[in-house]
Amino acid sequence: ILVTGGCGYIGSHTTLALMAAGHEPVLLDNLCNSKQAVLGRIEAITGRAPRFYHADVRDQARLEQVLRDEQIEAVIHFAALKAVGESTRIPLDYYENNLTGTLVLLRAMKACNVRTLVFSSSATVYGDPASVPIREHFPRSATNPYGRSKLIIEQVLEDLQAAEPDWSMTLLRYFNPVGAHESGTMGEDPQGIPNNLMPFLTQVAIGRRERLSIFGNDYPTVDGTGVRDYIHVMDLAEGHVKALEHCHGKGGVHTYNLGTGKGYSVLQMVAAFSRACGHELPYHIDARRPGDIAECWADPAKAEQELGWQATRDLTSMCADSWRWQSSNPTGYEE
Ligand code: NAD
Ligand code: UD1
Repeated sequence: ILVTGGCGYIGSHTTLALMAAGHEPVLLDNLCNSKQAVLGRIEAITGRAPRFYHADVRDQARLEQVLRDEQIEAVIHFAALKAVGESTRIPLDYYENNLTGTLVLLRAMKACNVRTLVFSSSATVYGDPASVPIREHFPRSATNPYGRSKLIIEQVLEDLQAAEPDWSMTLLRYFNPVGAHESGTMGEDPQGIPNNLMPFLTQVAIGRRERLSIFGNDYPTVDGTGVRDYIHVMDLAEGHVKALEHCHGKGGVHTYNLGTGKGYSVLQMVAAFSRACGHELPYHIDARRPGDIAECWADPAKAEQELGWQATRDLTSMCADSWRWQSSNPTGYEE
């Protein structure tokens, strides 16, 4: 299985899940948002290092060489840029990396007769949903270049599958991935100031940031703060294995929400993380963040029925595992 973006947060945890299930992942990453040191951590957990190619998904010749040399049967495509705010400042970089990267990958797969793709999509393709929980057939829209890149890629994959029905395209729409491997040796290692809530909270807890800014407390939610469906990254990783095993070789476009079906507010997250780290976390209420929605959580029933997958780790484990990783690796992966 070729894992593009395999050194990143979700790709590295999915590599663990693939290896645990007896698959043979081959990682490809240009390391623009990750560190090669993760390979040693994977080896420490699993007893062997996966093969790794330091390469860019926009390099078609290199991709074809890897697909052939490694006799790849399926691709899980994580490689992308993912910061929403940054995408509004440098949209061309986002379209170039995310869209062109996917088009080049598809060309290489076609040339090498590899027809199974699992794609990292996002709940962001639902825009501001009319109701929650969100089901897969809900209308799609995008409010920023990052989200639009995911939406366009979904449509490209649908168009290609319609033209060439032997492609198996799986679109996995992640809700909010958090947590870390239970060992505390692998986790999320954001560069610069974290955009997302959980890495920001862990950095406040460790003393790298003074306090959390809560973006708005006047939403029509349980306590006025935004509600999201946080999912443990190892549950998400196992969802990829189930999806791959179910969809491999089945022509079609297979779309699944990967979420827990439960929503928690920012204040509930602060309280849960305070319990995990053993002290109160300073915060203040700030203005709403442009583009944010009040609430967003999944109806994960389709994945449960068709893939036999369901998230099993609760909020307490998500916070405990994030904290174990952050407290034992205060500056993330060291080279
Ligand atoms: P990440 O940045 O940790 O991982 C992405 C990896 O891709 C990085 O290791 C990066 O170096 C690599 N990469 C980027 N461009 C590349 C290129 N052109 N060639 C080769 N490698 C390249 O991010 P993540 O959180 O692990 O996200 C993985 C995927 O899941 C992304 O597609 C992201 O958009 C999607 N996603 C993430 C979230 C989230 O909250 N983390 C939510 C929904 C969807
Ligand atoms: C964000 C992105 C989304 C992307 C997802 C995963 C935006 C508008 N949306 O989603 O497109 O798919 O990340 O990468 O950026 N919060 C705070 N203070 C903080 C950080 C967050 O109060 O410092 C709040 C947010 O307002 C939100 C919740 O925490 O209510 C979760 O935020 P975040 O982790 O950034 O995820 P999303 O906004 O769901």
